[in-house]
Amino acid sequence: MKRLIILAMLLTAMGTYAEKINININIATQNTQLTLQVKDDGRLYQTYLGARLSDHTPLATLDMPRMAGASSIVTHGNEVYPVMGTEDFYEPAFEIRHADGNPTSVLKYVSHTQKGNETIITLRDELYPVTVALHYEVFPDEDIIKQWSEISHQEKGKVYISRYASSMLYFEADRYFLTEFTSEWIREMQMKTQELFFGKKIVDTRLGTRAALFAQPFFEVGLGRPVAEEEGTVLMGTIGWTGNFRFTFEVDHQRQLRVISGINPDASTYLLKKNEVFRTPDFYFTLSQNGAGEGSRRFQRWAIKHQLNKGEDDRMTLLNNWENTYFDFDEKKLTSLFEEAKDLGVDLFLLDDGWFGNKYPRKDDHAGLGDWQATTAKLPNGIPYLVKKANETGIAFGIWIEPEMVNPKSELAEKHPDWILKLPNRDTYYFRNQLVLDLANPRVQDFVYSVVDNLMKENPQLKFMKWDCNSPITNIYSTYEKEHQGNLYIDYVRGLYNVLQRVHANYPDLYMMMCSGGGARSDFEGLKYFTEFWCSDNTDPVSRLYIQWGYSQFIPSKAMCSHVTNWNRQASVKFRLDVDFTCKLGFDIGLADMSEQDKQYCREAIQEYNRLKPIIYSPNLYRLMSPYDGEHCVLQRVNDDRSHALLFAYDIHPRVTDYQLPVCLRGLDAEAQYRVREICLMPGQQSWLDCHDKVYTGDYLMKVGLRVTSGNALVSHIIEIIKE
Ligand code: GLA
Repeated sequence: MKRLIILAMLLTAMGTYAEKINININIATQNTQLTLQVKDDGRLYQTYLGARLSDHTPLATLDMPRMAGASSIVTHGNEVYPVMGTEDFYEPAFEIRHADGNPTSVLKYVSHTQKGNETIITLRDELYPVTVALHYEVFPDEDIIKQWSEISHQEKGKVYISRYASSMLYFEADRYFLTEFTSEWIREMQMKTQELFFGKKIVDTRLGTRAALFAQPFFEVGLGRPVAEEEGTVLMGTIGWTGNFRFTFEVDHQRQLRVISGINPDASTYLLKKNEVFRTPDFYFTLSQNGAGEGSRRFQRWAIKHQLNKGEDDRMTLLNNWENTYFDFDEKKLTSLFEEAKDLGVDLFLLDDGWFGNKYPRKDDHAGLGDWQATTAKLPNGIPYLVKKANETGIAFGIWIEPEMVNPKSELAEKHPDWILKLPNRDTYYFRNQLVLDLANPRVQDFVYSVVDNLMKENPQLKFMKWDCNSPITNIYSTYEKEHQGNLYIDYVRGLYNVLQRVHANYPDLYMMMCSGGGARSDFEGLKYFTEFWCSDNTDPVSRLYIQWGYSQFIPSKAMCSHVTNWNRQASVKFRLDVDFTCKLGFDIGLADMSEQDKQYCREAIQEYNRLKPIIYSPNLYRLMSPYDGEHCVLQRVNDDRSHALLFAYDIHPRVTDYQLPVCLRGLDAEAQYRVREICLMPGQQSWLDCHDKVYTGDYLMKVGLRVTSGNALVSHIIEIIKE
């Protein structure tokens, strides 16, 4: 009898086991398919990632090559979440040290669920109580796949995880070309391409707070050929993490490419508590079969609909005072700037740095950060007076804060030295004379939240905040993280999100600009809370063409702040404004020293901008001529029903003798008739474009094209194309 019971139990176990192998899991958008399979070893493998296959394709027949190493080692290869210490000898997705010191895990498939657009696959170690849940969410219409992992355990002692990818993907092509987006202050989002050969290329960052200072959290990989604008297969990926991230691109001995994305685990071996769920950040990707152009349109459409804070809402044009006054202002000067903002016709005035601090007034960047009360000597009637005055003038009011930071010369630093990240027994390293508050500490989170909360309670009419973050974490030590400093970089970012969630929940109408000494914060998790971000302190229009070209690969125009300033006075005000016109338009310039003609141009351009926002903010961007290819830059936006388009053409520094080729438009209705009209002309000027005020078919515009470039330096045209 006993034997029979054991036999029955064995058979049931085998039954469940047999049911679990050869399971295929399909994760698909309209145009992309990712197929995973549980193989006979009970582990989960990627068998396909590419263009969506016909629904009749039997999934069981899909397979990528097996890993063949030394003669005796043949594994199934392409494990979806490979673990350090097992027989895959390349960079793994996961590394763990169990409480007993064992440094491996073998993760076997347990179950999966597919509900609506979400797939959850649960993997478990059979010997240790460790679970990894792989999450996939598809956005079928926008062709975006979002992925993250959740790691947990029920071990008694201390368990450390030292690698914890959000995603690992495999590709097979004869050649791979990586386009990365390098950065530094005033040189954000520079696109550089290289071919990937055997071995690893890592793009990562370890600055903590001003995280994307040197590398932005985006990449593109051309499969088989370098990334082109409208042809070829391109993987485009990005991670939603406002902290240290890492992308690893590894080509193995079989010429397969592995792409691992996640938090940068350097200096972040994480002590994972029993039953705590470690949720990795979200990794988002699209696989375009029609170049980066299509990938960008997908990302922009997806962000507007599903990710960006107030993605489908309007945006406010503004006048900022930073470049105009720096720290040197008072009530009188500011109220006169409200008049200027009104005269220009913008929606909002944004008061920048320098309005706070009393014991240590913020008169330059050496003091005051942390003391978020208006400086009475400068602003005797405080912020409420300014908000009231601005509103009376007919504009909204916004304000700059940098609430994660502190100057040692501040009352906050005197009161709460333990709230500051600072290394014991070492010299303290300052960046812009400031230090970073310890957002891992919930009391500090409360304080940071109170900076927004107090301002909002005092000034319910505040419409906008610019949240800056100028310093990286220079001294990585927290008095709060007593048990394990390794958690700090991660807990910091989670602390930041706690604060932002509270701000978002309590002040859902507040528009907020993410800023980090320019564009060192630009990721999609941040943009869940922020309505826009400051692309760069570099507002030279020529540099901006490159910077904005870079960000436009992923980010909708309404999220990219672009302001008219006095950088590059060789460029006309029209040229400067025309570059900003393609993004979220603002001004950071004094009207006093502008000619009446330039001012009039700005006033009229703002009106045109307001009229054309639906086209400017449309996700349908066609990048027609790249500044990287020569001396021009031409962009086009079209609305969804293809009845209305805008063409933006810029000559940078061409030679007069250069031949000018026509530019072929895209995305129009071939059969329709369109009227072409140059708009935003300087007051009193006529267009000298041949195409001005003529009617063409969509077919003509897309095949023959328009001559909109010239051999003159720093010339720009904005051209409206309307279906007749
Ligand atoms: C950073 C920002 C600027 C400005 C200054 C103020 O550098 O990028 O736009 O707000 O801080 O100190």
